[in-house]
Order: sequence, then C-alpha cells, then structure tokens
Amino acid sequence: MNSENLSKRLHTVVSYIPKGSVLADIGSDHAYLPCYAVYKGLVQAAIAGEVVDGPFKSAQNQVKQEGLEGFISVRKGDGLDVLNPGEATCITIAGMGGTLISNILERGKDKLEGTKRLVLQPNIQAINIRKWLIENDWILVAEEILEEDGKIYEVLVAEKDHEENPYSDNKEAELLLGPFLMKECNDVFKKKWNAEYKHWQDILKQLQASGKTESSEEKQEQLKRYSRFVEEALSK
Ligand SMILES: C[S@@+](CC[C@H](N)C(=O)[O-])C[C@H]1O[C@@H](n2cnc3c(N)ncnc32)[C@H](O)[C@@H]1O
Repeated sequence: MNSENLSKRLHTVVSYIPKGSVLADIGSDHAYLPCYAVYKGLVQAAIAGEVVDGPFKSAQNQVKQEGLEGFISVRKGDGLDVLNPGEATCITIAGMGGTLISNILERGKDKLEGTKRLVLQPNIQAINIRKWLIENDWILVAEEILEEDGKIYEVLVAEKDHEENPYSDNKEAELLLGPFLMKECNDVFKKKWNAEYKHWQDILKQLQASGKTESSEEKQEQLKRYSRFVEEALSK
C-alpha cells in the first residue's frame, strides 16, 4: 500500500473529512487513512492512535516509509486518551464494532471539545453509535452504506453544531436502519437488511422451538419488531 491506494471503505470515510482539518484517526492500524489524507493535502496534520503494539509499530513504519513524520504524530494509547482536549477538529474511527466505537467516544468525552465532526465506520451495531450520538447531543448529518469484497459497511457522520434533527416519529426504526439510509433505500441497504431479516427468521424459529423463558420471549419480541421495521422500510 502507498498513499495513492486506499480501500473503497476508507475512501468513503475520507470523503467526509472537512478540508483543512486536524485529523485524529483512532484505531489507525497501518495509518493508511491519515497517510492518504495528508498525502492528498486534505488535512493540515493528523494523529494516528493505536492501542495494540503490533499495529502501532505498523503505523510508525508506514508514516516513516511515506516520509510523513512531520505531519502525522503516531501515538500509542487507548481510544481518545492519545489526544489533548480540543486538539482534533475531526475524528475518524473505522473498522470496529459500533459498541466499541461508542465506548471509545463515551470514555473520551472530555477530549471532544473543539471537535467539529465525527466520521464513524462501524462494521456492525451502528444502532449503538446512533444512540450514543443522540445521548451526547451530536447530530447525525449524513450516512452512507457500501459493499466491498462481499462485506457491507456503514459510515456515520455527526456534527456538534447542527440544527437539523434527522429523526422522525419513526425513531426506533431509524435508530436501527439509519434515517438517511432508510430514505435512500439503495440496493446495498436492501441486500443488508434482507439478509438480516432472513437470519432473524431463523433465530425466531429456533427460539420458538426451544420453549419459553423470559429472556427468550423478550428476544422474540425484539426480533419481531425489528422484522416489521425492515418489512416497512423495504416495501416503500
Ligand atoms: C480492524 S482494525 C481497523 C483499522 C483501520 N481503522 C481500518 O478501518 O482499516 C481496528 C484497529 O483498532 C485498534 N483498536 C481497537 N480498540 C482500540 C482502542 N480502544 N484504542 C485504539 N485503538 C483500538 C485495533 O488494535 C486495530 O488495529
């Protein structure tokens, strides 16, 4: 990999970074994303944060190999611990589960002052990020769904100072499916939720066959509700 090349997934994340940002890419692994953003002149400086030793060394090596040490600070630490308050104007967190991403944001809340935009790319459980954003007064301003190498990814973009609320009175469905993605309802969206729907029907059959417990009843109720949301969204 050199900075000319980036996966479609990371390209999509980069496309939402405001030009001239000071970027923090948390869980940066090889630091491909900040290298690309700096190399292309999209950001003025970047921080690549990594908690695990191997990926941290890969990030250091990549930045050195590309001669970008003057622009990218590679830091080892957990989540937003690597940042000073107000340091990053845009934060990207990509390629992890939505629960982990929201935990990282929750634990590092005090570092978000001065951050204007979050670009978050959960592999699963985007619902937890949407909930965290609402609870913490971040407004979802855009969403994208894409497929690469047979996998489907969502990208969520949020801003602090934004007036428009993307949610309607169908909020529970929108938290699950994404208010922007539901409206767009493109082929990738349909593919993702058709597959989830089939999976839930299999789970429901198994739960119904395995007898009643309180938690199984609750799970069944949730899956039936979610299935209705998907049926409604895909029927439009
Ligand atoms: C699957 S990789 C994704 C790498 C890159 N962001 C991408 O999207 O291609 C996830 C990376 O996040 C790192 N990571 C996981 N939890 C973290 C945390 N709490 N703080 C910093 N990095 C973390 C992992 O070590 C791993 O390198």
